[in-house]
Amino acid sequence: MNQFAKDVLDGLSANPKELSSKYFYDQKGDKLFQQIMALEEYYLTRTEYSILKDNKDSILKAFREGVSKFNLIEFGAGDGYKTKVLLRHFVKERADFTYMPIDISGNVLKILETALHEELPDLQVKGLQNEYFKALDQLHDSPDRNVVLFLGSNIGNFTGDEAVQFLTHLNDSLKPGDLLFIGFDLKKDPNVILDAYNDRSGVTRAFNLNLLARINQELGGNFNIDKFRHHPIYNPMTGTTSSFLVSTEKQTVEIMDTAIQFGAWEAIHMEISQKYDQQMIEKIATDSGFEIVGSFKDESNYFLNAVWSKK
Ligand code: AVI
Repeated sequence: MNQFAKDVLDGLSANPKELSSKYFYDQKGDKLFQQIMALEEYYLTRTEYSILKDNKDSILKAFREGVSKFNLIEFGAGDGYKTKVLLRHFVKERADFTYMPIDISGNVLKILETALHEELPDLQVKGLQNEYFKALDQLHDSPDRNVVLFLGSNIGNFTGDEAVQFLTHLNDSLKPGDLLFIGFDLKKDPNVILDAYNDRSGVTRAFNLNLLARINQELGGNFNIDKFRHHPIYNPMTGTTSSFLVSTEKQTVEIMDTAIQFGAWEAIHMEISQKYDQQMIEKIATDSGFEIVGSFKDESNYFLNAVWSKK
């Protein structure tokens, strides 16, 4: 049984039921996420974009401080839409650096590399096809500063403990003086946050339901997608947005000869998208062994990008 099948069966046999949001991203899921990022309600992408655009000079200064060249390593580059703001500027300023997007899919890397060669012929690009930490191990002997980009508040899809564990692992993989440039979505008006995860056009709903469709397709499940309702909630106390799919009636779903029983209005926990305040961010930095170098915010205080350094 592959890992996907095992995780799905374990998660749906548990009480309460859960599925991991890391499985959202099949081909259809990737497309839906692209659409989410372009939604009016989904403020995260354009806000982080504006922070990078407005602070590109100071960001380059931080990355170059005390060194002549650096590796710019990106976790989860996607189509590079936001990163290109920095890349264009860094190339224009003749910074000596190599851009190293990491992705497990060779195909994603090839598309990105081809697009970058066309748009920025002077940019040095070296895609690393691997898991994040294995790719970092490949760079262990590089004498140059490593600067890791982890944008998009992707860290928010981890629980608090998982986030610190992940960042501690990252810290262990770096050498003193290496940097992390990381994005955090901030606590704000709860309605603004809820709308971002419950858009009017229903793209986020489709994004969540697509995981059930994926289970049907890849694991021979028989979910009736119409019998599940997308329901996000935001807790302003903890800053956690949680997304659920709620079964609208009592039903049985079969997946690989396993019968999964749903009570009426029983929920599957699908995803958390954590929102942060300044104190939470400082605590995460300290708990994972980083030193805070600086941070950048947009005018509305919606999003924060931090520069942390490995001591
Ligand atoms: C990738 N990640 C940061 C997104 C988020 O905001 O949690 C995924 C997402 N889920 C629903 N909309 C967007």
